[in-house]
Amino acid sequence: MPRRFVRHAIALVLVAFAVAACRQATVRQTVDIGTYLGGQASLSQATPVFGAHGMVASNSALASEAGAEILKAGGNAVDAAVATGFALAVTYPFAGNIGGGGFMNIHMADGRDAAIDYREIAPLAATRDMYVDPATGKLTDKSLVGHLASGVPGSVAGMAEALARYGSLPLAKVMAPAIRLARDGFPVDSALYRSLRGNRAVAQFAGKDLFFPGGEPLAPGARLVQSDLARTLEIIAAKGPAGFYAGEVAEALVAEERRGGGIITMEDLARYKPEWRTPIRSTYRGYTLLTMPPASSGGITMTETMNILEQFAPLPPYGSAAYTHLVTEAFRRAFIDRNEKLGDPAFVKVPLEQLTSKAYAKTLAAGIDRTRATKTPAFKVAREPEHTTHYSVADAKGNVVSTTTTLNGGYGSAVWIPKGGFFMNNEMDDFAAQPGTPNMFGLVQGEANAIVPGKRMLSAMAPTIVLDKDGSVLLVVGAAGGPRIITTTTEVILNVIEHRMSLADAMRAPRLHHQSIPDTLRYEAGAFSDAVADSLRAMGHALLRTGGLANANGIMRVNGGWIGVREPRSTGGAVGH
Ligand code: DON
Repeated sequence: MPRRFVRHAIALVLVAFAVAACRQATVRQTVDIGTYLGGQASLSQATPVFGAHGMVASNSALASEAGAEILKAGGNAVDAAVATGFALAVTYPFAGNIGGGGFMNIHMADGRDAAIDYREIAPLAATRDMYVDPATGKLTDKSLVGHLASGVPGSVAGMAEALARYGSLPLAKVMAPAIRLARDGFPVDSALYRSLRGNRAVAQFAGKDLFFPGGEPLAPGARLVQSDLARTLEIIAAKGPAGFYAGEVAEALVAEERRGGGIITMEDLARYKPEWRTPIRSTYRGYTLLTMPPASSGGITMTETMNILEQFAPLPPYGSAAYTHLVTEAFRRAFIDRNEKLGDPAFVKVPLEQLTSKAYAKTLAAGIDRTRATKTPAFKVAREPEHTTHYSVADAKGNVVSTTTTLNGGYGSAVWIPKGGFFMNNEMDDFAAQPGTPNMFGLVQGEANAIVPGKRMLSAMAPTIVLDKDGSVLLVVGAAGGPRIITTTTEVILNVIEHRMSLADAMRAPRLHHQSIPDTLRYEAGAFSDAVADSLRAMGHALLRTGGLANANGIMRVNGGWIGVREPRSTGGAVGH
C-alpha cells in the first residue's frame, strides 16, 4: 500500500477518534479525574500492549511510534528514547520539547547504569530576587509566563550526549521521524486541542499564528505542519548540539529573548553542559531501585519514602486506612527533608547518603504513630500544575531507558521562538523564587534551592528503573506532575511489588499524594471507601479529593517480552515491537 495512502487512512481514523473523544469530553466535564492532564477521563484506557522485542510508552502515540520505528531499524533503547524525545517535541508541544530540560536514567543489559541530568540552568544574569516586586515584596508571575521565566535549555545537549555515549545510531537517523512529523505535519487530536484551549497564554506570543489561527486553538482534525521546527531539527541533526547552542537557532532564541525582555544570552547557550550522574541505587524488599539523584529530588525522596515503608512488613492492604496512613506519613517525612535540604549539588551540600540510608529511615519510621497523623504547618494550596512528560523504552537485549522531560508548565513560558519554531520553558519557577513562599506546585522550599546564576533548579522528576531480585529489569516507570511525580512513581512501584498488581492495574489504581506542605492528603476518587475516609479524618488527616494525580507511562518485563501501559488518565500510546 502506498505510504501516503496509509498516512491518510491513519489520519482519518485519528480524526474520527478525536471528534468522538471531544464529544465525550464535553459530556464528561464534571468528571474530575484527568482534567488537568489534558486527556480522556476514562480509566478504562490502560490497555496493556505486548511487545516481544521492545516497547515504547509515552504521552503521544505518534512519538511512541517514532521510537518503535528506530527499534525496528536495529536501534537500541537509547536510540529509541532519543527518537521519542525529539518526536515528543513535535507531536506533544505541551511538554515535549527542545526548549526545556529533563533527566534520563539508563540501564544497559551489560550491567552499565547511567543517569544524565540535562536540567535547565539559571542564566548568568539571573538574580536571587528577580521575581520579587521590590515595591510590594510580593512574588510576581514572571517566573511563570513570558521571557524572564526560562532557564537555559538542556534537552538537545542531554539527548545528544546520551546518544553519543550509549546509542548505536547517528543523530540524524534517530531524529528522522521527528523531522518528518514536523515537516509533513500530523492531524491535531482532541488532546492537543484541549491543551491549547486550556493554555491561552500561548496566544499572547509568537506561536499564536501557528497554534491559534484566527484566534482559536487548532481544531481536532486540522493538520499541524511546523516548518520552522522542521528546519531547526534538520540543523541539529546535521550539526549536533552546536546546531542549537550556536549559530542561527541560538541567534533566533537570543533575539526573541532580547525583544521580550528575557536575559538568556549567546554566552549562556555556549556554556550549557549536561551532567552525567551516578544513579541512586537502593533496595526495597530485595528489589533494586535505580533512581535520579540531584539536581532532581525525585530519587532521594522516593528512596527515603520506600525505606521508611520497608520498616513495616508487610504493608497493610491497598485501600485500607492503615495503608493510606502509613504511606501518607512516609511521604510527609520525605518531603519535609526534600523541601528544606535539597538543591543543585554544584551549589549546596546535599546529605544524600544520610537521607537514603536505612538507618535514617528506621528513625523516621519509629516516629510514626500508627493511629494519629503527624502535623506539618498548614499552607495555602497553590495553583494547579501544568505539564511534563515521561516516557519509558525497552529493547530486545534488555537495555532500558526511563526519561522525564519538561517545559515545566504546559507550553512552558508560552514564549515561542520565531524561526526556531519551539516553546521555551518556565523552569525558573522551580527555584525557591522567594524561599518560604510556595511555588506553582505549592512547594515551600528553602535556601538550598534559591536562585544563583548557573545553578540548576531543584526538580521532582523521577525516571526510575526497578530490577527484580535476580537483577533483571522488572519496571521502567516515571511520571509528570511536579511533586506528584514522586508519589505516583512510588505508588505504581508499590502496587506492583507490594500489592502484586499487574502493571495496568498498578497504573489504574487511584492515587494518593502528600507533600508535607500543604498538610493535606490528596486522593483520587476510589482510593478508599467512605468508611476509610472517616477513619483517616478521625486520625487527624485533612482529606482533599482531587483530579488525576500525575501522568505516568510504564513498562514491565513479562515472560517473552515487555508490557507497556500508557497513562490511563491521559493520552498517549504504548507501541510494541
Ligand atoms: O522538575 C519538576 O519537578 C517540574 N518542573 C515538573 C513539572 C511537571 O511535572 C508538571 N506536570 N504536570
